[in-house]
Amino acid sequence: MKEILIFSSKGGVGKTTLVEAIRQCLSPAEVVDLDPQGSLSIALQMASIPLAPSNSKYRLYDSAPYNDGALDQIMLKVDHIFVPERLGYPDLLAFRTVYERLLAAKATRKALIVFNEVRKPLPIEAREVLRLFRKNYPNVKIASSFISRLEAFRKLFRFPIDGKAAAQITSLLAEIGINIVR
Ligand SMILES: Nc1ncnc2c1ncn2[C@@H]1O[C@H](COP(=O)(O)OP(=O)(O)OP(=O)(O)O)[C@@H](O)[C@H]1O
Ligand SMILES: [Mg+2]
Repeated sequence: MKEILIFSSKGGVGKTTLVEAIRQCLSPAEVVDLDPQGSLSIALQMASIPLAPSNSKYRLYDSAPYNDGALDQIMLKVDHIFVPERLGYPDLLAFRTVYERLLAAKATRKALIVFNEVRKPLPIEAREVLRLFRKNYPNVKIASSFISRLEAFRKLFRFPIDGKAAAQITSLLAEIGINIVR
């Protein structure tokens, strides 16, 4: 089974939204909710979607901004770590914590920064932040697929992901060698 952890030390960057969007594209995929708040599990239960469907070939971990030591073990064993961030200065600053955690787990090579809710054309600040991410963290890969507007949280859990968003998730997954036949 291929395992992907979605992790960022920053709150509200789209971890849970990204997990759900990926889950839909990889369905049947298992999800493990590491957030004590349990929003993902609650949303899936409300939608009568099993967290661990049989025949899953993928396992997706959603995490909370301040997950404890258990996360280190998960970082060690997963195949890939997606780090959703927004292209803003607060994300750049908060990334230091993520980076140190990745370094401690020797997991920088399996990490991929995924910029979320990106508006095109990129505003000047976003371009500057992107440059600073590259300059300060040259050994962490940045996904070339940016995620723009996914369906809002409430809608995403009730209806299938729409065409454009699905195409973005598909190309993101292709970057880690998962090719979805659509
Ligand atoms: N690509 C997107 N398009 C539209 N809305 C988004 C997108 N990504 C996230 N959001 C919205 O941003 C908010 C925060 O997203 P989400 O809960 O997924 O973040 P999180 O990182 O899981 O937060 P937490 O740290 O609290 O677990 C939600 O209202 C969600 O609908
Ligand atoms: Mg969340």
